[in-house]
Amino acid sequence: MATTVTVTGAGGQIGYALLFRIASGAMLGPDEPLRLRLLEIPQGMRAAEGAALELQDCAFPLLADIEVTDDPRVGFDGCQVGMLVGARPRGPGMERADLLAANAGIFGPQGAAIAASAASDVRVVVVGNPANTNALIAAASAAPDVPADRFTALTRLDHDRAIGQLAATLEVGAGEIDGVAIWGNHSATQFPDVSHATAAGRPVLALLAERHSGAEAAERWLDDEFVPRVARRGAEIIEVRGSSSVASAANAAIAHVRDERAGTTGRWVSAAVVSHGEYGVPDGIVCSYPVTSDGSGYRVVEGLDLDARARARFDASVAELVAEREAVQRLGVV
Ligand code: NAD
Ligand code: LMR
Repeated sequence: MATTVTVTGAGGQIGYALLFRIASGAMLGPDEPLRLRLLEIPQGMRAAEGAALELQDCAFPLLADIEVTDDPRVGFDGCQVGMLVGARPRGPGMERADLLAANAGIFGPQGAAIAASAASDVRVVVVGNPANTNALIAAASAAPDVPADRFTALTRLDHDRAIGQLAATLEVGAGEIDGVAIWGNHSATQFPDVSHATAAGRPVLALLAERHSGAEAAERWLDDEFVPRVARRGAEIIEVRGSSSVASAANAAIAHVRDERAGTTGRWVSAAVVSHGEYGVPDGIVCSYPVTSDGSGYRVVEGLDLDARARARFDASVAELVAEREAVQRLGVV
């Protein structure tokens, strides 16, 4: 049986970077045939149709079927893996509240369509920004038919960015770094935390102290360079490339789904999941944590120490998520 994967915003930039890798087996593995449903709005249909033509031309052995539609009920029909990429970008002069309202108009109906037509084992990752609160809206609209914990939001890109920065600084391979955590929102308030991280089995904090001549200087580097660099990397990419991150975002979305389904095999990753109050975060908001999966869904890594400075950073990001939830509550969508 082929697995049904729905990609929204399939005619956009991230869609184009995602689809071919998904169809090649990079996300579900080399033995899992799949069916792609590409959901767009009418203005994006030609681009999605063009991508579908190219997918056909690749003759991927695992790709059983492709459907392109602008009807969410059709797009989510039988969906088992939902990748919600299409979103309304912030326009000139648009306030955050306007952005949340515009996206509520997308993610509310999509959540309802998921409840109406997706498969009973559906899992959804939201990529489109503001990703955490868009996931909250979709989950609320899919309730009670779909359990809220089937909805997650992408902070794996932030996690991988943190690893990339550490690997470059410590001059080790990215694969040697473990135990990084992204706490909070996928926004500039996020807290990328290395206090539990190791590089080639050695504590990152100790390695940074060696490089920066002492623990205090290492802390300064973390506060003044590392944290802002990771938290503002999206803006840096926009400034340097002239448009937002695409291939790295698609890569992170694939890794998010792959690891949730296949399991994280002893390592941590980061993902935004519905809080059940872990680390004192209010219930119900979609918050990034260090997580593991045994293949049945992401679970928060519990019991980690957060010192006062870490706690303050995490709390500030959680406060932003709470404010976003209040803004969409005022709209009556959650
Ligand atoms: P893009 O503008 O190239 O593509 C977006 C596509 O979504 C367009 O084709 C548009 O027609 C489509 N779309 C809009 N509304 C839709 C709807 N209701 N249903 C289906 N499709 C719809 O943008 P992009 O570069 O592909 O980025 C997509 C989103 O991902 C943006 O919101 C961006 O900010 C976000 N993003 C998130 C992360 C992350 O780490 N979470 C990283 C990078 C980008
Ligand atoms: C990113 O982290 O690269 C994006 O979320 C930035 C953006 O605003 O699209």
